[in-house]
Amino acid sequence: MKAYRAGLLWFADAREGVGKAHYEQDGLLVVGSDASGVQVVQAIGSWQALSAQFSHLEVEHFPGRIIAPGFVDLHVHFPQTNVIGSPAPGLLPWLENYTFPEEKRFEDPAYSAQSATFFVDELLRNGITSTLAFATSHPQSVNALFEEAQKRKIRMITGLVLMDRHAPQGLIHGTAQSLQDTEALIARWHGKGRLGYAITPRFAPTSTEAQLRGAGELAAQYPDVWIQSHVAENLDEIAWVRKLFPASRSYLATYNDFGLMRERAVYAHCIHFDDADRALMRDTRTSAAVSPTSNLFLGSGFFDYAGADRVGFGYGLASDVGGGTSFSPFHTMLAAYYVGRTAVKGLQDKEGLSLAPQHLWWQHTAGAGAVLAVKDATGQSLVGNLLPGCEADFVVLNPKATPLLARKTDLANTLDELLFSMIVLGDDRLIERTVISQAFPRMA
Ligand code: GUN
Ligand code: ZN
Repeated sequence: MKAYRAGLLWFADAREGVGKAHYEQDGLLVVGSDASGVQVVQAIGSWQALSAQFSHLEVEHFPGRIIAPGFVDLHVHFPQTNVIGSPAPGLLPWLENYTFPEEKRFEDPAYSAQSATFFVDELLRNGITSTLAFATSHPQSVNALFEEAQKRKIRMITGLVLMDRHAPQGLIHGTAQSLQDTEALIARWHGKGRLGYAITPRFAPTSTEAQLRGAGELAAQYPDVWIQSHVAENLDEIAWVRKLFPASRSYLATYNDFGLMRERAVYAHCIHFDDADRALMRDTRTSAAVSPTSNLFLGSGFFDYAGADRVGFGYGLASDVGGGTSFSPFHTMLAAYYVGRTAVKGLQDKEGLSLAPQHLWWQHTAGAGAVLAVKDATGQSLVGNLLPGCEADFVVLNPKATPLLARKTDLANTLDELLFSMIVLGDDRLIERTVISQAFPRMA
């Protein structure tokens, strides 16, 4: 066991669901192995309350620093690191002109491996310790990312991108082959240490009915595997799906019609929804990966927080690099705040929302972790938080990392003021260290 003394930030149990933070200015975090050898949180609280009980332990002290849960990125494209900042009039031309040409390069295992190393470096530098990521339609890209994640002990969930139509040569896959490759990759990687597999149809327009049906069958056959895709991001995309799948009630319903909505299914964007879509998310326990920098950059629209909370489905934050413009959770949380503020006709309320800083932070840690649904026998989520039993992934933040941050965080009178200073002014300079729970074999 080992103990860390610093300011401590963590969240109420996910089942309380409200994004309420706990903060100890002088806290003690105790970490040790659980029965299966995974490093988990053993105790968390004030130094004053816990130090006598753990006085036999080695204590690493971080004066003036804050320990917080490692961030969870619910949707990011590992092969799109080079695509960040590619201008286009919208999603579909952006895919065709920048994204598909770059993704073709991942056919080369050496390019995949080199990109995976850079990608995981970038995640850790930004304090991200758990990720639900897209690879490409080449199995070698999936293998490269899992191999790198295994080495670095990050919690990585990824999968082979399924596309059997409407994509260029070099990315398109035969239907049967794509499903066989998916099954072989599940067997090779799913549940190895902290690695998990996600069945990954890119989005409805690039899959035939046969491919979506096959993906849904695999999702039923492997119920603890994740599912990820995109939905209701862009109006041109939606019109296209309507033509391709006229029998489905809505774009989202297309996925349900093929058995692709359940717990551990995470759909990026979820912007252009009606209440029937929201109810379908809730009733199937499917969750949304809210991707604000991407949606602002590509002009896709604004996630309707008020609608999601009114109907009650799960969501968390995501960078969506390379549609998204930054790996930094601080940039993503700030963009989410802007989205809430924006009063769009029919969305939010007239004035726009002012999402609480604690809630923004929760969306990128404990809230996103709950979406991943990695739980113990009692149902407690084990990812994205620092409650006893949680995987001990955390960041050490230096709230004085820049002169302006030092000046501003010094003025904070409340926890929300402190968190908001970091959300508004922060970037990778705030992350002094990223500490990863040691990975030992355990089923995901
Ligand atoms: N829809 C289908 N593919 C993609 C992608 O790579 N990025 C985003 N933002 N949307 C998509
Ligand atoms: Zn995406």
